[in-house]
Amino acid sequence: MSSVLVVGGTAGIGLEIARYYADGGDRVTLTGRDAGRAAAAAKDVGGEATGLALDLAAPKDIAAALAGIDTVDGLVLAAIERDVNTVTDYDIDRALRLVTLKLVGYTEVVHALRSRLAPDGAIVMFGGLAKERPYPGSTTVSTVNGGISTLVHTLAVELAPIRVNAIHPGIVGDSPYWRDRDLAHVLARTPCGRLAEMADVVDATAFLLGNRAVNGVNLTVDGGWLLG
Ligand SMILES: NC(=O)c1ccc[n+]([C@@H]2O[C@H](COP(=O)([O-])OP(=O)(O)OC[C@H]3O[C@@H](n4cnc5c(N)ncnc54)[C@H](OP(=O)(O)O)[C@@H]3O)[C@@H](O)[C@H]2O)c1
Repeated sequence: MSSVLVVGGTAGIGLEIARYYADGGDRVTLTGRDAGRAAAAAKDVGGEATGLALDLAAPKDIAAALAGIDTVDGLVLAAIERDVNTVTDYDIDRALRLVTLKLVGYTEVVHALRSRLAPDGAIVMFGGLAKERPYPGSTTVSTVNGGISTLVHTLAVELAPIRVNAIHPGIVGDSPYWRDRDLAHVLARTPCGRLAEMADVVDATAFLLGNRAVNGVNLTVDGGWLLG
């Protein structure tokens, strides 16, 4: 990789991915919704990293926000807004926001950058295991994560030879959303005896971006939790 764009790189897993590539000397751009927050995260990451403001929930504005981006060798789509929704008490506005952010927004980033994606480049996008194992309130989260697993297939075919893969983490124990919660019940169902950590997800991202033969894959990173 020489140029890496991490959408949703101001926090959590995206921030750690940005840090990994900046530490390795790659040219990193990371995004969040707020320019100041993105600039602060880029400074924290170090190297030549720069920050950019971009709101995936406003997909018609994405192309303009990305106008200053040069060639992209590695594109990581990691952004998320947490959501609770059920079909019994269905909140259409919440549903539209998350579907727009993850499915339309992720796709529009790829569309906007289409001519600037290096032919030997690669894309990694993030779903999650709510697609396999729903929980109360995961109606929209399960739906969009399921959508990611088929989005990688159509993009891998259409964008060839650019490779497109997805990571579906289980609960990432040291990620900001989970690290202060009691996860004993998750650990009890995790055969490898430890929860996935952000470093494991960074490692999986580097594998998918770097391996020249892995394409159209939905990679589960959960310590075997789905089997537990
Ligand atoms: N953490 C887990 O255990 C876990 C489990 C399963 C799946 N995942 C998936 O892994 C990915 C990373 O999760 P995470 O927990 O590391 O996320 P996180 O810590 O909540 O960070 C979310 C990122 O998304 C950005 N973002 C939020 N709303 C946005 C919007 N409307 N437009 C553009 N950017 C936006 C945030 O930036 P600003 O706040 O600065 O705008 C931030 O950089 C997500 O796709 C998530 O679904 C995570």
